[in-house]
Amino acid sequence: MHTDKAIEEIMMGMVREKAMEIYSEALIEHGTNPRNYGPIENPDGYAKVTGPCGDTVEMFVRIQSGTVEKATFNTDGCMFSIAACSAAAEMAEGKTLAGCIGINQSAILQHLEKMPADHAHCAHLAAMTLQRARRECADSKKQDDRTGETPQAEAGG
Ligand code: FES
Repeated sequence: MHTDKAIEEIMMGMVREKAMEIYSEALIEHGTNPRNYGPIENPDGYAKVTGPCGDTVEMFVRIQSGTVEKATFNTDGCMFSIAACSAAAEMAEGKTLAGCIGINQSAILQHLEKMPADHAHCAHLAAMTLQRARRECADSKKQDDRTGETPQAEAGG
């Protein structure tokens, strides 16, 4: 006889199998097990954007030696926006600020493989927010170069 836990696992397996027919593994994985969720204290770059759908995405970026050391997000959006933000944050890590310019809507959609067409805008929202956070890093770096100051987040760790 199956326990409640075993039944739950069988049900989840069936749901996952059905979902795999519609969505890609990458989309399900990022949407249900997002990477880099939650804020960074004293980020070098931050942006908050509300899309036309009414959902909001926040992106936090920390730079170390000219490279994105950490990128994280928060969102009150749908599962597709969680997947898109998770992919965007993961794609940004280890890249230079210039290297992050290519993380746009189509790059995120490609990374997630099978985003439903009516949720492509969720990837656009994630990309736009990441790009604004990236620009803020670039702007604050320019300012630091002019003043010779060390960014607070890098000094504080
Ligand atoms: Fe608003 Fe997905 S429907 S972000």
